[in-house]
Amino acid sequence: MTIAGGAAVERPVAQAPRAELREVSKRFGATQALASVSFELLAGEVHALVGENGAGKSTLVKILAGLYPPDSGLVLLDGQPQQIHGAAQARDFGIAVVHQEPSLFPDLSIAENVFLGHQPVGRAGSIDWRGMRRAAQALFDELGVRLDVASPVRGLSMADQQLIEIARALSFDAKVLVLDEPTASLSTHEVDQLFVIARQARAKGVGVLFVNHRLEEVFELSDRVTVLRDGRHVITAPSIGLTPRDLIRHMVGRDVTMFPKVAATPGDVLLEVDGLSRAGEFEDVSFAVRAGEILGFAGLVGAGRTEVARVLFGVERPDRGVVRLGGRPVSFESPAAAIQGGIAYVPEDRHQEGLVLDFSVAENISLPIIARLFPRLFVGRRAEARVAGEFSAELNVRPAGVERIVSGLSGGNQQKVVIAKWLATKPQVLILDEPTRGIDVAAKAEVHRIIGTLAAEGLAIMLISSDLSEVLAMADRIIVMHEGRISAELSSAEATEEKVMVAATGQQAGGA
Ligand SMILES: Nc1ncnc2c1ncn2[C@@H]1O[C@H](COP(=O)(O)OP(=O)(O)OP(=O)(O)O)[C@@H](O)[C@H]1O
Ligand SMILES: [Mg+2]
Repeated sequence: MTIAGGAAVERPVAQAPRAELREVSKRFGATQALASVSFELLAGEVHALVGENGAGKSTLVKILAGLYPPDSGLVLLDGQPQQIHGAAQARDFGIAVVHQEPSLFPDLSIAENVFLGHQPVGRAGSIDWRGMRRAAQALFDELGVRLDVASPVRGLSMADQQLIEIARALSFDAKVLVLDEPTASLSTHEVDQLFVIARQARAKGVGVLFVNHRLEEVFELSDRVTVLRDGRHVITAPSIGLTPRDLIRHMVGRDVTMFPKVAATPGDVLLEVDGLSRAGEFEDVSFAVRAGEILGFAGLVGAGRTEVARVLFGVERPDRGVVRLGGRPVSFESPAAAIQGGIAYVPEDRHQEGLVLDFSVAENISLPIIARLFPRLFVGRRAEARVAGEFSAELNVRPAGVERIVSGLSGGNQQKVVIAKWLATKPQVLILDEPTRGIDVAAKAEVHRIIGTLAAEGLAIMLISSDLSEVLAMADRIIVMHEGRISAELSSAEATEEKVMVAATGQQAGGA
């Protein structure tokens, strides 16, 4: 078998199934999350698992991780039927899992999170703290990531949390490595590093299962692909024999047009930022966004893009600099004031900031517009349901039904609810932070269509995204940030992947 992407890597000859599911079914209430799915993960392969939001990918992962027992069917490890009870037992079986939603202990240190449950023990039988920190540091070095392993997890970005999850999975010798959308928050640099590690694992005979919505990455890394649709197995095939279009058709059941960007003529400057600084986060940031314009923000993880957005949205205060909205200097004391002023912000971390998980879809979507819909604070259920229904239908939130509690939705569908919620505020300036993180191709095309339409309607849009192809396709202009400063500004005509990467990594380019 050859490897998609052309990399010449030695392959183990005998490929026995490391893990196998036989006719596994799993149901949640009325939802059949998996319907008699059979699946083999071979030793020494990278196997991609793809499908629309809610297709059942994470459910399959959680069954392998010992978090859910299957309703029926068998799980086999190295050919033996096994019952996996809980995460610790999965680890004993040699199954390492990076879950879609990081589940870390905020008050423990990074090193403790990495080694939780299997801390290195010293001679006296007590935990070897120094050894643990050293081992954790070595894992991050391997990932090419600078993190202080002694500091607590609280307050870290999604990307850093994801990297800690990855380090945790790599902290013991696994036979099966499962990555549930590990790259969703990561930028190109970290993704490359992770791919090197995944290829090393494959060469050692590890079975690597890789859930991903970024199809370029699926083709770059995987040997085989399995597609799930509505809990059913559609196809398993070598990735080399498939085109992106085939894959989308298997996933969605039809063709999807990507990036249908509407041409818009930018109008007056709506948002102007001049010399904005916040110590330790970003320095001397200046830019302007016009009505009808999509301004892309590219950069590596930690470049300061989210921090700028949080200041504009009134979450944090700047140390210096001026923000003008429609020509008038503004300084928002709180997100509520920013919303009143006409700024909406779709945050990257939907669990901490984006959603109230115990609320229904309708309640979540109508949260920020309650003030607008109900000036006398009269919460009308029908108005709420109508607005929520409109937006969640447009984004195809599934299962449909705005009365559903958000915590029971799949990761990607939760993300759609966050976006719908902020679109419903009809702001002047819309800041989108990783808006398509974790959502499937069809919904992504839909979000892009909506962003394009909103720009054409005259909104000024800031699009922060680690997905370079998204920024290149959607933005009229691209600002690149590096270590808290703007390192380049490129028009969509002159921007290329290479120019953006050069500026994002802080290299000097001729003329940039
Ligand atoms: N704990 C749960 N309670 C209720 N329903 C659930 C639960 N977990 C999953 N589901 C439902 O099962 C279906 C499959 O969900 P799953 O999380 O496996 O999807 P997914 O393929 O991982 O999607 P995504 O791409 O959005 O992450 C969805 O309809 C989801 O709403
Ligand atoms: Mg999932």
